[in-house]
Amino acid sequence: MDAMQKVKVEIRNVSLAYGATPVLRDISVSIAPGEFFALLGPSGSGKSTLLRLIAGFNQAQSGTIIIGGEDITRVPPWQRNIGMVFQNYALWPHMTVNGNVAFGLVERRLPREVIREKVAAALELVGLRDYGERRPGQLSGGQQQRVALARTIAIEPKVLLLDEPLSNLDAKLRVHMRTELLALQRKLGITTIFVTHDQEEALSISDRVAVLDGGVIQQIGTPMELYDHPANRFIANFVGTINLLKGKVGPAGTGVAFDSHALGRITLPQTKAAAGDAEIAIRPHALTLLASGDNTDAGQVWVEGTVAEREFLGEFVRYTVRVGDTDLIADQPHYSGHPIHVPGNRVKVGINPAQVRLLTA
Ligand SMILES: Nc1ncnc2c1ncn2[C@@H]1O[C@H](COP(=O)(O)OP(=O)(O)O)[C@@H](O)[C@H]1O
Ligand SMILES: [Mg+2]
Repeated sequence: MDAMQKVKVEIRNVSLAYGATPVLRDISVSIAPGEFFALLGPSGSGKSTLLRLIAGFNQAQSGTIIIGGEDITRVPPWQRNIGMVFQNYALWPHMTVNGNVAFGLVERRLPREVIREKVAAALELVGLRDYGERRPGQLSGGQQQRVALARTIAIEPKVLLLDEPLSNLDAKLRVHMRTELLALQRKLGITTIFVTHDQEEALSISDRVAVLDGGVIQQIGTPMELYDHPANRFIANFVGTINLLKGKVGPAGTGVAFDSHALGRITLPQTKAAAGDAEIAIRPHALTLLASGDNTDAGQVWVEGTVAEREFLGEFVRYTVRVGDTDLIADQPHYSGHPIHVPGNRVKVGINPAQVRLLTA
């Protein structure tokens, strides 16, 4: 199978409600040709609804969907040439793997010889060349997922939609399959929209991610942008682990002063922010822990606390440090022989202001 024609997917001001309940609210997103794009959000946030809308199984009350420059908002699903893979694979149990993969091609009434070639090519692509005569029940979960993928790419769709395609697999296979999925997508060059509720999964393989909550896109960005510059509290909490501290933005001097109960006053590097109630976000690995007798450097703000909990996670140790009435999570890299802090011990917590994000929403 050759690399496919790469198309752009544009969703403009799409809104959808079931009865009086809005499920998608003014969604606009533009997905580049050949992009691996993730829709990430908690359960019920509207991910599947948006995907089904792109496939044509749902109708929006307003908005436009444009694929490859063509307005397909009113085109029925069978004329859209979009491939969709579902969480439960939806394979026909009574058909062989060959029969399943051939399904869409038979529907399109292609000549038998062409179908045979396309089925073989699709199975080859997913590494199941010799499995054509088996039935789905004789395959592992990962192999069934590959058959579902082969069936979808066999029709050479313009766009590939994947709705939580890995969530029925066990943890190890899921991690393996996501790399495989990305490799396949890169080989085909097909514009792909991947739905998941698993932030690690979305961050690890996507070119860009749109985070949905309550039917609203909260942020669109590269995985690193979402992680380093969360647009609001929801994103900060949902993408990775983070410390959130409430406080007040004070009058600007050389920088923005932020006063919180736990950390006192920190001067943040940004030059302006509205005064008043706000929140700061700090990643656990951006905090430094020292024993209470150690020397501190002046580049960071230091506060004293007590180690409340310690979790050994291999590459790093995750500490919960109580500072006043606030718990801070601090991840410290672990090396063999490196001294570790003991619960109950007093420690100094170092905060680098450059790593602190001010959240305004
Ligand atoms: N056919 C439907 N009729 C009524 N409500 C629906 C229907 N499908 C989905 N919903 C509701 O729309 C919201 C979003 O659902 P969905 O898109 O499946 O979320 P996600 O895939 O992010 O878990 C949920 O509150 C769900 O209950
Ligand atoms: Mg869903």
